[in-house]
Amino acid sequence: MGVHKTITQGYKSHVRQVQHHWENALAAEGFDAVLIHAGSKVVSFLDDYEYPFRCNPQLLWWLPLTHHHDSALLVRPGRRPKLMYFQPDDYWHLPPADPESWWADEFEVVPVRDANAWQQESSGAHTAFVGDAPALVSLVDASRLNPPRLLNRVHLARTRKTEYEIACISEAARLGALGHTVAERAFRQGLSEYDIHQQYCMSIQLVDAELPYGNIIALNEHGAVLHYQTQQQQAPAEFHSFLIDAGATVHAYASDITRTYAAGPGDFADMIVAMDEMQRAVCADVVMGMDYRKLHLRAHLDIAGILHEFGVINQSPEAAVESGLSSVFYPHGLGHFLGLQTHDVAGLIADADGTPIPRPDGHPFLRLTRDLEPGNVLTIEPGLYFIEPLLRQWRESGDVSAINWDRVDALTPNGGIRIEDNILVTGAAPRNLTRDAFADLSQ
Ligand code: GLY
Ligand code: MN
Ligand code: MN
Repeated sequence: MGVHKTITQGYKSHVRQVQHHWENALAAEGFDAVLIHAGSKVVSFLDDYEYPFRCNPQLLWWLPLTHHHDSALLVRPGRRPKLMYFQPDDYWHLPPADPESWWADEFEVVPVRDANAWQQESSGAHTAFVGDAPALVSLVDASRLNPPRLLNRVHLARTRKTEYEIACISEAARLGALGHTVAERAFRQGLSEYDIHQQYCMSIQLVDAELPYGNIIALNEHGAVLHYQTQQQQAPAEFHSFLIDAGATVHAYASDITRTYAAGPGDFADMIVAMDEMQRAVCADVVMGMDYRKLHLRAHLDIAGILHEFGVINQSPEAAVESGLSSVFYPHGLGHFLGLQTHDVAGLIADADGTPIPRPDGHPFLRLTRDLEPGNVLTIEPGLYFIEPLLRQWRESGDVSAINWDRVDALTPNGGIRIEDNILVTGAAPRNLTRDAFADLSQ
């Protein structure tokens, strides 16, 4: 069975589950309907060029309308959701194509030419509104716009993916793995960051705006810039390393994958192998009931162990975590939920009130603190970097002798290492969607 068929066959059941979650959330919060607005185009100051459109993910949970600004969905308990499908008479831009039956059959679809058509559908006193379109924000009173408890309920439901969502993310992982394979080959051929990026996009047939986040294509020391955002058109004189953090989207569902390569053998290549082993071990522990914070702290201990083993630090792994030294080399979180948003919702809350589940002290960037449940999809992305500003701060105010500076100097031209996979929590063993996708490609 083709991929598209696997995805579309699960869609009907997905919509039923989404309807069920929304009905429960509306009843619990005293609303009798919700209008979900896709969002509107935003133009640049003093011009009429638009920023790339990003559809409201709350609408995308229902429908794969990634490019469809100003469409809106009215959801009422017990009734087929009504889609006001915005198809303007526009000769400057290509209007959205007619609805495709694999998704449209689940809705009452009303094509509309007027971007304000949703305003006629939403006069009920107990209708909630969800979105950030300027027209919505200016017309709807604040108590009914994006009610936090309503959204928290929906966000918590979104953490447990349906079969349809898992199929979409798996396909996004397959595309990502394909792009990564092509990108590694381009790196080995000595191409520039820009050319590697172009090859990545061409291989998976996506343009930049369709990527879940800006590709991180980092040669050499650029690997130490966590969200490195440029792509140099000139290839460097020497190649030491390549860090690529790049994903793909399928019906708006994201993959988020990182690999790191050394140009040749040596300490940095050996460190990548050590990081890969520890990352796989952490992935194997992504099991139901696990407190994600424990995995994050364990990754700190493991990375401190690797730093110690390679002679970069002098403190024991335990002391390095305790003193904050491990955070000099590993300053981000172990990972996050993944879905319609690369950093998907509800990673840090316990309930409809949004009660925070605290991060461990000293770990301000961790994005996931929940106990894991079947259906969660999340990333495991430990990292180890040689980041000049963080090393300088430690040199100025930490225990200088805890770091072997000559080892740091020797490794700094490599930038850093991150290895990131996308994992599905099940009732049994975790499914590593990324490693499965790479394995399928090599068959
Ligand atoms: N690519 C962004 C992240 O890994 O969180
Ligand atoms: Mn990530
Ligand atoms: Mn990433």
